[in-house]
Amino acid sequence: MTGTRKPARGRRTALLAAGALITGALGAGGMMQGTAVAAPVCTVDYQVANDWGNGFTASVTVTNNAASAVSNWKVEWDYAGNQQAGSGWNATLSQSGAHVTATAPTWSSTLSSGGSANFGFNGTYSGSNPVPDTFTLNGTTCNVDGGDPGDPDDPDDPDDPGDPGDPGDPGDRVDNPYEGAQLYVNPDWSEQAAESGGAAIADEPTAVWLDRISAIESGSAGENTMGLRDHLDTALEQGADALQMVTYNLPGRDCSALASQGELGPDEIDRYKNEFIDPIAEIVGDPKYADLRIINIVEIDSLPNLITNVGSRETATENCDEMLANGNYVEGVGYALATLGQFDNVYNYIDIGHHGWLGWDNNFTPTAELLYEAANTAGATVNDVAGFAANVANYGALVEPYFNIGDSVNGTSVRQSDWVDWNRYVDEQSYAQAFREEAVRVGFNSDVGVIIDTSRNGWGGPDRPSGPAAKTDVNSYVEGSRIDGRIHTGNWCNQAGAGLGERPQASPASGIDAYAWIKPPGESDGASEDIQNDEGKRADEMCDPSYEGNVRNGNSPSGALPDAPVSGHWFQAQFEELLRNAYPPID
Ligand code: BGC
Repeated sequence: MTGTRKPARGRRTALLAAGALITGALGAGGMMQGTAVAAPVCTVDYQVANDWGNGFTASVTVTNNAASAVSNWKVEWDYAGNQQAGSGWNATLSQSGAHVTATAPTWSSTLSSGGSANFGFNGTYSGSNPVPDTFTLNGTTCNVDGGDPGDPDDPDDPDDPGDPGDPGDPGDRVDNPYEGAQLYVNPDWSEQAAESGGAAIADEPTAVWLDRISAIESGSAGENTMGLRDHLDTALEQGADALQMVTYNLPGRDCSALASQGELGPDEIDRYKNEFIDPIAEIVGDPKYADLRIINIVEIDSLPNLITNVGSRETATENCDEMLANGNYVEGVGYALATLGQFDNVYNYIDIGHHGWLGWDNNFTPTAELLYEAANTAGATVNDVAGFAANVANYGALVEPYFNIGDSVNGTSVRQSDWVDWNRYVDEQSYAQAFREEAVRVGFNSDVGVIIDTSRNGWGGPDRPSGPAAKTDVNSYVEGSRIDGRIHTGNWCNQAGAGLGERPQASPASGIDAYAWIKPPGESDGASEDIQNDEGKRADEMCDPSYEGNVRNGNSPSGALPDAPVSGHWFQAQFEELLRNAYPPID
């Protein structure tokens, strides 16, 4: 999100022949596009991030456009409906009649000139839930961001994503590459999904994983017969505006687990550069792809491991210690950012794990700082970074609709429950938004955005709660309210009970560039037994349902489905589980 982001659009456009066009969620009403306004002193972007009929989650970003800082900031508005704001995060909410006041948290009470603050809350309502149209910052009326959806049927609207010529001039870097873009649908995945009972979702865009050197070349990557050039050419044939890919082949990959260990040994940084990143750059740099936005998700689960699984921590592993000591994760990520970031049409997003990994204070800021270091290594700069990717191949709930981090039971914070265990976040969206702010604070550009992988975090199905549990004690409240059905937030392998999550969409909430399906649903996270493969992948106990766990998952059972193939290979039983438990359900 940024002040310069194009306004979110107010309608969905039908699927196009071979690709899926995704458009933004309904933005807040307000200023008409193109209307001249005197320089505003503040802007408020109020987004309904989730709405379940009688309740909602709102995310509000206030920006101070005045020349001086505002101390003890306070945002106010009136509801037109009967909405009732509950407790929030990153601000204290109070409501009297229809009038709501959000006051700054004590730890961040000053809004610098040009600075923004983001806060959120869950609310309830009956009837309708209109977005307020007037906001004030310390008494002064603000401009409303989020855009007027305008007339969705106006064919002359230049921002209409369906118009020819949109999205923008070829090759221009835009703030959010998802906005108004028709995304590439990977036929390899799509055909597999369709013939496996998933015809209803087979047209969704998923990411292309470059998970080994041979995956770059056509036909040489085992089951995955299309190489990078084939994908890019097919994207052009589809008339797609953007393609999502994952670069995933660091030396010593997957240092805290075994399931996705890769082909390059810990010291093979030169091969990573010369045989992996350089050839990718040669292909994506071909001028014939210059009009295609290439959304590149960089090295999943790498840098966070250097914070949480090293040194004197109980969770340390030898492999992660080695990767910290030899510097090859940081060097490799920097090199990928710099080399691919030289092209205007490439948008690099660095992996930020997920809330159940980095949401604790001792992990959160150090990770942001390490990412900043990587973004200044091997020739990279922050201008090579479009943003961050959260929850990739993980299962964290997007939004926990029935409880939030500000809740307490008989005076005990939910942070003290066994499930939350002092984490600062209970879901991916609040985590991603907060991480974005932190990243900007440590030095990333203010227009960075976050992609949240919603491919497998739907948590529908019969066990999904339909409302908050009684506030008897903090554990029963959290247990009965949470939709995330895992045994522990550290569980990551082929989770039983998981469902497909939100369908891919652009600009769904403040600071979030997209909900996207990065992990292709149906592809395994790993196997519990050694299965012959030439990809470096090994048996991982976290994929064994009878495993009792380790310190990284609170010594809990793994929660995995049985009998999985190696990571990345098709796992039919899991795919069926994801379809069954999809949320939103599949119509
Ligand atoms: C695997 C990759 C695979 C990706 C997408 C990862 O866990 O290690 O080989 O491409 O998942 O399924």
